[in-house]
Formats: sequence, structure tokens, C-alpha cells
Amino acid sequence: MSITYKDAAGIEGMRTACRLASEVLDYLTPLIQPGITTLEIDRLAADYMKQQGTRSATIGYQPSGYPPYPGHLCTSLNHVVCHGIPNDKPLKKGDILNVDVTVITPDGWYGDNSRMFLIGGEAACSLQARRLCQVTYEAMWKGIVLVRPGARLGDIGHAIQTYAEGNGYSVVREFCGHGIGQRFHEEPQVLHYGRPGTLEELEPGMTFTIEPMINAGRREIKELGDGWTIVTRDRSLSAQWEHTVLVTETGYEVLTLSAGSLAPPAFVTAAAAVPA
Ligand code: MF3
Ligand code: CO
Ligand code: CO
Repeated sequence: MSITYKDAAGIEGMRTACRLASEVLDYLTPLIQPGITTLEIDRLAADYMKQQGTRSATIGYQPSGYPPYPGHLCTSLNHVVCHGIPNDKPLKKGDILNVDVTVITPDGWYGDNSRMFLIGGEAACSLQARRLCQVTYEAMWKGIVLVRPGARLGDIGHAIQTYAEGNGYSVVREFCGHGIGQRFHEEPQVLHYGRPGTLEELEPGMTFTIEPMINAGRREIKELGDGWTIVTRDRSLSAQWEHTVLVTETGYEVLTLSAGSLAPPAFVTAAAAVPA
């Protein structure tokens, strides 16, 4: 497996897949309220993907050494770091939930993105929970803004780590962003920590995710007995945001954008946020 560089047709395929992945989250957003279960969210997403003409990349997904993943999306609640399996427990006011959606279009392109949801709204959530979600969002963007030809993956990891740790949080090491295209997980691995000037040099046509998992407490994790769910070892809260990005000739294009996407943080200059 190696890095794939997308040509014009590939870029169009990725734009469509990623916009559709983002639109699944737009559709779910008003429905993610206290009382709904993550299994109900999963079912609604499955129906919406069918309407779109996409299918879930996660259902039945089985990397070697794992059982088949049972959900159409991942729902990671509070101290769950990632890969939470939808279940029949109602969401409560004050919970924080990551919903991670990956779709496949009929022509085989993958779009992957996730967002955090404050259940019951800002006022229902603790200051710490809100701040963790915001810092994680900003940390993702600290990485995104560095994407351009000639930059290195270590630059991105370093920026994310510096920002998260500077805010008193820790970066999960065991999971990373990834190349994506006509396969779910391609090279390169996109670490959310590291040293500037190291690792792969970015080139136009690369598409990959940036998806930092940031813990309020220590960075250590453990896997639950279901073979998928990852939680913080110290049971501290964990947050994650994910975009899929394209390296353009001059910088980056965030592909997983749609009407409901959250605006970039203020430090992202308007010029940089506009597709090249
Ligand atoms: N969408 C996740 C990612 O960002 C992967 C989920 S794999 C699953 O890479 F099987 F857990 F769904
Ligand atoms: Co991903
Ligand atoms: Co994802």
C-alpha cells in the first residue's frame, strides 16, 4: 500500500464523497438531542445514506485482528476516545458525543469526517467539556492550515500537539489520520504529534484526514472487550474532530464541508479557507 495522488477526476470523486459525508452530519445535527439513542442515530444515518446513494464504509469493516464493525457510523461518548459502537442508551443533557461518518460513493470514493455534539446545548455542558471540544476543534485547524506542498507531516503533528498540550490536554498516540481515496485507510499515517521537518513531504493531489483525539486527562487508552471501543484509561473526557483535506498546488482544500459545517476558528485566514 502506498500514497495515492489524485488526478482531476479523482479530486472530483473525493469532493463529492466528502461533501456527502459532511451532509450526513448536517442531517443528524438537529436530531442529536437528549433522549435519542446512538442506535437510533445509526439507523437514521443509514436511511439517509441510502437516500443519498452512498453506503457506510464502517458497517462490516474488518481490519485484520478486529471483529467486523457493527455500526453505520461511530458514536463516542464522553470518555470514549473513538470507535464507540451505537447502543440503546439514551443520550443525557451534558454528555459530549463524537459522531464519525465515512461514506462510499457509487464510484468508490470515500469521504470521512466527524464532529462533536454538546448534548442539550452549550448551557447543559460543563465548562471543561465545552473547552475540550473547542480546543480539539482548534487543534485540528492548527494542523489543517499548515497543509501545502513542501510541508511535512511532522509539522502538522507538532502544531496539533503543541496546541493541545499548551492548553493542558494530552494527545492520543495510538490512532492517527490517514490517506483516503478509493480505500478507507491508505498511507500516509497522519500523526497528531511529532517534530517539525520530519516525515513525509506533502505533494499536490494527496488526500488525507486530520482527526486529533484529545484527552482532558492522561493520554493512555484501553480497548474494551467488544474489540472496538477505545476509552481513556483514567476515564477523563475525550474529544475528536475530523476533516478530509486535499493538498492543492498552493495550500489546502477542506473537502468535508457542507452547509452545516462549523466556521473555522478566527486564526484561519479567509484566503486560506477558500478552496484554491
Ligand atoms: N472513521 C474512522 C476514522 O476516522 C474509522 C472508523 S473504523 C470503524 O478513521 F470500523 F470503527 F468504524
Ligand atoms: Co478517518
Ligand atoms: Co472518521
